[in-house]
Amino acid sequence: MKPVSTHPSADGLWTGLRRASAPEEDAAIAVTQGTIRWVGARSALPAEFAGLAPHAGGGALVTPGLVDCHTHLVYGGQRANEFAMRLAGATYEEVAKAGGGIVSSVRATREADEDTLFAQASARLEQLLADGVCAIEIKSGYGLSLAHERKQLRVARRLGEAYGVTVRTTFLGAHALPPEYAGRSAEYIDRVCNEMLPALAAEGLVDAVDVFCERIAFSLAETEQVFKAAKALGLPVKLHAEQLSDMGGAALAARHGALSCDHIEHLSAEGIEAMRRAGTVAVLLPGAYYTLRDTHLPPIDALRAAGVPMAVSTDHNPGTSPALSLLLMINMACTLFRLTVPEALDGVTVHAARALGLQDTHGAIAPGMPANFVLWNLREPAEFAYWFGQQPLRTVVRQGRIAIGASQ
Ligand code: NIG
Ligand code: FE
Repeated sequence: MKPVSTHPSADGLWTGLRRASAPEEDAAIAVTQGTIRWVGARSALPAEFAGLAPHAGGGALVTPGLVDCHTHLVYGGQRANEFAMRLAGATYEEVAKAGGGIVSSVRATREADEDTLFAQASARLEQLLADGVCAIEIKSGYGLSLAHERKQLRVARRLGEAYGVTVRTTFLGAHALPPEYAGRSAEYIDRVCNEMLPALAAEGLVDAVDVFCERIAFSLAETEQVFKAAKALGLPVKLHAEQLSDMGGAALAARHGALSCDHIEHLSAEGIEAMRRAGTVAVLLPGAYYTLRDTHLPPIDALRAAGVPMAVSTDHNPGTSPALSLLLMINMACTLFRLTVPEALDGVTVHAARALGLQDTHGAIAPGMPANFVLWNLREPAEFAYWFGQQPLRTVVRQGRIAIGASQ
């Protein structure tokens, strides 16, 4: 890893660009002090920016820096063995009930020290950054005790500093019942609400709060208890909702003003309406759908008709989505979920930023925003979804610096 301080400044006038949202136009972007000052057709460039140091875009397509708005990036070990069990016929729920699943990653995460977790997560983060990711959400939820959740969240913060990438941390203490609380779910949730969350929030380690609301995880009432604790601390909420069944979690989350409801394969019409009213983002996770060989599609047409913004994310985690490419998720969102290419691109930029409450600083190329944008060696926007396994990335401008690629 090169230290961030060695990344060259992106200040100057970027020309020879074609915005993915308007590919016919010869576009330019003016950057000073790491901030976008102007973007538009080259022919309309204000004189005040004409003298800036030039960066030649070479006809590349340009998008906002990508935002991966749902990941469980920091964990110990891996679970390829469970993948093999599932290939042999076991379901995700059966694997979880047999002592595998989330709690097996909890064991490995508890055994790992902070530096080990940092090194392992760094390697994964580098893969995501190589796809043009400029902001990422990282959840806890594999520690399930104050000390181990703290360890995960501290690693997430360190990753942001070391790589010069925006990291939003989400506390997911209510991800699974830790084995030492077997049969005592209510007691564990009390602990999450009264001890773990307040302590971690006081340490500045929590940007949002999430719950896994599901038959194999936590009930609607337990979810609401966690949401109330988050609200008392002024923290926004989001939810792993209706992945395996319709629990009514999305409507509850929307009533609590949730930033996003994620997975939502079994989302009901009532849930969609509640999300629409609350402005809650629907986060689609095709990597988990694919890995679990799910066949129950999220209600894309109804979400689209209701105007609910749809984001797309990797859901990187060791159990259900070992995906390390947000570009591949664009492909899957289009092939599996039938998003259009512009929808999928909005899903990994503007809507993903909103799912993290980052809409004022990420997910768009607009004056006043920090310079986060990506140049791609592609001719037309459909290629974002068409290729998979190809790396078309040319240059990444992240936090006002050229983090990947040459500027010539
Ligand atoms: O987003 N659904 C719950 N959480 C993860 C899976 C975590 C795991 O299996 O380790 C998810 O898919
Ligand atoms: Fe998840």
